Amino acid sequence: MMSSFAGRLALSALHCLDAETAHGVTIRALAAGLYPRFDNARFPSLEQTVLGLPFPNPLGMAAGFDKNGEVADAVLGLGFGFAEVGTVTPLPQAGNPKPRLFRLPADLGVINRFGFNNEGHDALLARLEARRKRGGIVGVNVGANKDAADRVADYVAGIRKFAGLASYFTVNISSPNTPGLRDLQAKEALDELLAAVMAERDRASSNAGRKVPVLLKIAPDVSSEGLEDIAEAVGKHSVDGLIVSNTTLSRQGLSDTATGAQAGGLSGRPLFRRATIILARTRKLVGPDLPIIGVGGIDSPEAAFTKITAGATLLQLYSALVYKGPDLVHAILNHLDRELKRRGLTNLAEARSVNVDAWAGETLD
Ligand SMILES: Cc1cc2nc3c(=O)[nH]c(=O)nc-3n(C[C@H](O)[C@H](O)[C@H](O)COP(=O)(O)O)c2cc1C
Repeated sequence: MMSSFAGRLALSALHCLDAETAHGVTIRALAAGLYPRFDNARFPSLEQTVLGLPFPNPLGMAAGFDKNGEVADAVLGLGFGFAEVGTVTPLPQAGNPKPRLFRLPADLGVINRFGFNNEGHDALLARLEARRKRGGIVGVNVGANKDAADRVADYVAGIRKFAGLASYFTVNISSPNTPGLRDLQAKEALDELLAAVMAERDRASSNAGRKVPVLLKIAPDVSSEGLEDIAEAVGKHSVDGLIVSNTTLSRQGLSDTATGAQAGGLSGRPLFRRATIILARTRKLVGPDLPIIGVGGIDSPEAAFTKITAGATLLQLYSALVYKGPDLVHAILNHLDRELKRRGLTNLAEARSVNVDAWAGETLD
């Protein structure tokens, strides 16, 4: 997918480094402006207003790539229609001991157990304030410190802190790497969390002048009943949308079983099927109109279009960049535009959910 020789060379060089070092080098290169620019105004068919925001195209950078908001503008410059920074926690924290990021090249997968390593609210706030006038859609993904006495309070603090700067919020209760975090997806806990988060959003909005949309990011490892409870809570609290999904604890179908034995969340191609089935089931539960960001294993132009047809309003990716480099962004946008034209459609909404029943009916092993 890296069309240029320089791009292929850069990707091979990065793969000589351990995965976390390679990520650090990538962030520094982007921060220094060393990346190919792309004019993303080229596809009127891919523009959408979602969550009240004008998305130039549907493809965003998923959370975790830029945890500290160092390269949001570079990410947008690569052609992404939006960037999501974080997960950010109130206090800085180191995360789990290294190594904590593993490539599975034979499966085009990634396992991480970072555990919300990040510089904390204040550092992110300063960076977002510094870029405030540059525009673009930049979402803030909020989480809780590992040793927080009151996790709900940590999410609420995130909403309060970034209400004046975030294009949208993601409430991340689906990382598998903070012990007990996914328990917040259970019915009563989720009810309490969403009541507090939405109340703070409404309070903070009266100062910020606009209601910042709040999205809930869920795991792909939820039962049917669990998913029904989530959909009900989202409706009850008027949550603005969902992100489906985070990484999986499943190791189904991996050929690299040795690396697959590493603890952590699996992403990339091995996640695609599971995440897409959960996406389609979620779409059927919440109805045709609630915005859903489809994420998990998008690593080709065709996979991106498939996510739309399974019910996604918008898309995100991360892991595929490790294997395919940033040229994948352009390839996906070109393909989406061409595929719409080929089918005689004028916009993405017309393609959304056309295969939702088939995907929702697939069995999860
Ligand atoms: C190294 C790494 C770190 C991640 N960190 C976060 C994070 O901090 N917060 C979050 O909500 N998701 C995080 N994710 C999950 C991604 O945002 C995404 O949901 C998941 O990787 C599936 O997409 P992909 O298959 O395109 O990577 C992380 C993923 C990876 C690979």
